[in-house]
Amino acid sequence: MALSGAIFYLLVSLNVGVLSGNRLKSSLSLDGKWRLQNSNGSLSLGAQVPGCVHSALLQQGVIQDPYYRFNDVFYQWIALENWTYTTIFSLNSPFRYTNKQLLIFDGIDTVSTISLNGITLGQTDNMFQSYVFCVWCSLQEQCSFSWDWGPSFPTMGLWKGVRLEAFDLFQIIQVSAVPLYSRSHSNIKNGLSKDQLQFMDRVESKVKLWWPRGHGDQPLYWISIRGYQRGEEILNEIVYFRTVELVQEPIPGNPGLSFYFQINGKAIFLKGSNWIPAHSFLDQVTEKTLRNLLQSVADANMNALRVWGGGVYEQDLFYILCDQMGIMVWQDFMFACALYPTEQDFIESVKEEVIQQVGRLKSHPSIIVWSGNNENEAALATDWFDIPMTERPKYVKDYVTLYVNNIRAVVLEEDQSRPFLVSSPTNGVESEQEGWVAEDPYDPLYGDTHFYSYTHDCSDWRSFPRTRFASEYGFQSWPSLSTLKQVSIEYDRKYDSAFSSHRQHHDDGNQQMLQQAALHYHLPNSTDGFKRYTDTLYITQVMQAQCVKAQTEFYRRSRSEVIEGKGLTMGALYWQLNDIWQAPSWSSIEFGGKWKMLHYFAQNFFAPVLPVGFEDEDDFFIYAVSDLSEDLRLASIYLYSWSKMHPVCSILNKQPRLIPGGSAFSIYQQPTEPLLDGCGCTRESCFLTFHLEDSRGQQVGPTNYHFLSPLKDAQGILQPNITAKVWKHNEAFIVFLQSDAIAPFVWLDVGTVLGRFSANGFLMATSNITVSFYPWRPTNITELSQSLLITTLRDVY
Ligand SMILES: *[C@@H]1O[C@H](CO)[C@@H](O)[C@H](O)[C@H]1NC(C)=O
Ligand SMILES: *[C@@H]1O[C@H](CO)[C@@H](O)[C@H](O)[C@H]1NC(C)=O
Ligand SMILES: *[C@@H]1O[C@H](CO)[C@@H](O)[C@H](O)[C@H]1NC(C)=O
Ligand SMILES: *[C@@H]1O[C@H](CO)[C@@H](O)[C@H](O)[C@H]1NC(C)=O
Ligand SMILES: *[C@@H]1O[C@H](CO)[C@@H](O)[C@H](O)[C@H]1NC(C)=O
Ligand SMILES: *[C@@H]1O[C@H](CO)[C@@H](O)[C@H](O)[C@H]1NC(C)=O
Repeated sequence: MALSGAIFYLLVSLNVGVLSGNRLKSSLSLDGKWRLQNSNGSLSLGAQVPGCVHSALLQQGVIQDPYYRFNDVFYQWIALENWTYTTIFSLNSPFRYTNKQLLIFDGIDTVSTISLNGITLGQTDNMFQSYVFCVWCSLQEQCSFSWDWGPSFPTMGLWKGVRLEAFDLFQIIQVSAVPLYSRSHSNIKNGLSKDQLQFMDRVESKVKLWWPRGHGDQPLYWISIRGYQRGEEILNEIVYFRTVELVQEPIPGNPGLSFYFQINGKAIFLKGSNWIPAHSFLDQVTEKTLRNLLQSVADANMNALRVWGGGVYEQDLFYILCDQMGIMVWQDFMFACALYPTEQDFIESVKEEVIQQVGRLKSHPSIIVWSGNNENEAALATDWFDIPMTERPKYVKDYVTLYVNNIRAVVLEEDQSRPFLVSSPTNGVESEQEGWVAEDPYDPLYGDTHFYSYTHDCSDWRSFPRTRFASEYGFQSWPSLSTLKQVSIEYDRKYDSAFSSHRQHHDDGNQQMLQQAALHYHLPNSTDGFKRYTDTLYITQVMQAQCVKAQTEFYRRSRSEVIEGKGLTMGALYWQLNDIWQAPSWSSIEFGGKWKMLHYFAQNFFAPVLPVGFEDEDDFFIYAVSDLSEDLRLASIYLYSWSKMHPVCSILNKQPRLIPGGSAFSIYQQPTEPLLDGCGCTRESCFLTFHLEDSRGQQVGPTNYHFLSPLKDAQGILQPNITAKVWKHNEAFIVFLQSDAIAPFVWLDVGTVLGRFSANGFLMATSNITVSFYPWRPTNITELSQSLLITTLRDVY
């Protein structure tokens, strides 16, 4: 793509940090020790700001760990109390000369009262920043507020801190951009319009563009703003350049519209997952937590996250890290799964919220789309709230008032540099044509879809919608024993214990996991209750990993095909990346950062290059999926018998078809039964492995496999004798494994030693394999070897 002369939006809003419009901002932090009191004054304690009520109560020893066992129920009174934060300060320069001062409370919630110097302020401008909870009543007639993956703890308090801000006029003289990686200067036209600039690359030197990871680098520039205040001043900001379009166009000869993102003119498949708040008490989300989670996103070959509308607008560091790592962000506004009011004061407050958040976040190139809400179009269309037919027009009108006439209007005013969607899922421009609430917002021919089914056999790709863009789908699993141990006692560690039911917030969730697992695996049946429990944790993770793998592979292989009008899938964001506490959920990362089997699988199913095997009617197919721009071909296919360590057959691909980059096409098709017969195989006795190679014959991407029967029916899976040796290599540890038999789902667990393996949950079809362990805290060979526990499928029955 030719860059010279092109116009790019300058991705700096000039109010980040220092400037708002043409006003210079200076601020005084009021963070530090405050006082916190409940309504009758029986509790009065010192509380850190930033901080929140639960954290303060915990730090002062008033409560125990709110995540421990059933404490989320015992501590509900905290959310029903009225809390008052108090502090005293005196003003000094530089605030004396200002013409306007503002108190800024970031991230405050609706329940707190702020008392400053004796003056009590009511609800503040950021009041809707915190959680919006689904309210539901349990059997005990006890109302609660939580999602189906978390405890009912609203974050209350000043978790982002408090500051006093003052503005002064600032006359801009000149703006210039300096690439941080070189000394060359390019001058930017003096063309500040509102607080967004259009950048004209006047000098011949091309602007280096920000790319999603896997597609290029994330070069940054200093933007230097020379201006006049009471004397000349120079302000510097970091900026990036990129363009983004959401393409919704007719597909020649087919119904529906396309739905994909183009970054800098290039169509990009979004690979990733959905982000939820990393902690109930947001002040406890540290830089380390964010870095660790986002590094795990990068390590799993993801390039995108959806910040889901039932959580929070994340802290600045989250977006800064996404910018740096090339992680695209689909940013919802914080409205989810509910009907919202449209009274004028509510609308005014929402508009202020949108102005503030768009202003704060729009300079981040990582954010590629705004989305008005989570599932509220679908909720109206499919009548989640039992609205009588005669009342329906009123609710649709309210929906349009809030999300279209206000939120959308404000966003279009504040930021024209990225697309806006009213909801997710939505049919996009088709929804607009249907009056913003489409008859079927889940229509695979338009926009994005959310899809969940726990009862269908997940290995059957026919049960998945061939959508344009999958923004939510998933399966639950339990976290590991070491994570659950932090919040449970021995008595709790049974699959049918009160604790196990209590931590499961999705109706029938524990049963659904076993049901899906039972379609493919023997359920753990050890007579040793504890072993049966840990085996069950393991089998839920195997089930989840295989199911999300199957669904994601289906979406990735559908990117270049249209079948009955459906297909051209350009996004796969599974639900969900992270966890908010130690409990079963759809996450691929446990609370605390430990990777579940699914996250290891994501490394492979999101690899830039991937072979996908599947069956359709009587044929076995292999598709090559590629995000790269080089040609690929299929290497040999191997058939293994479960009972032997060596392939029983290898099939050379005689006529390799070259697959262009950025596509997914069939490279192999053979009738399944003759293929098996030719190798002396049956569906139960054998499985297939395959990989891709480049034109030089080098393997590219992971080796993938295809099972021909449910593994509970497989014949010849032996109990393997696996031995491990551990040694240190630089900062990592090497684990060398030897096995005397083929072993599916080999799982390495080192308990409380936090860190990650280079591979895990793998199919071991060779007599030895070497994996690395990257620790996130100091450890040693002795501790690792003693902690290492190896489980394979054959161990659970
Ligand atoms: C004050 O409120 C707390 C918490 O709601 C309650 O436990 C306590 O009994 C109250 N004390 C008085 C004196 O009313
Ligand atoms: C908190 O304030 C609300 C509104 O003023 C009041 O209705 C409620 O009783 C108060 N709760 C407590 C525990 O004092
Ligand atoms: C397992 O294999 C190791 C070496 O690979 C051997 O020393 C050991 O005896 C074997 N154990 C069993 C039970 O076969
Ligand atoms: C590991 O396996 C390879 C073949 O896959 C073999 O050549 C090598 O000798 C094995 N190493 C050991 C130490 O067993
Ligand atoms: C290994 O680490 C453990 C846990 O930190 C520690 O207790 C032990 O002393 C260490 N051993 C050696 C040999 O450093
Ligand atoms: C567990 O199930 C397997 C497979 O169905 C069976 O072979 C085994 O005998 C069972 N074990 C027990 C203890 O019931």
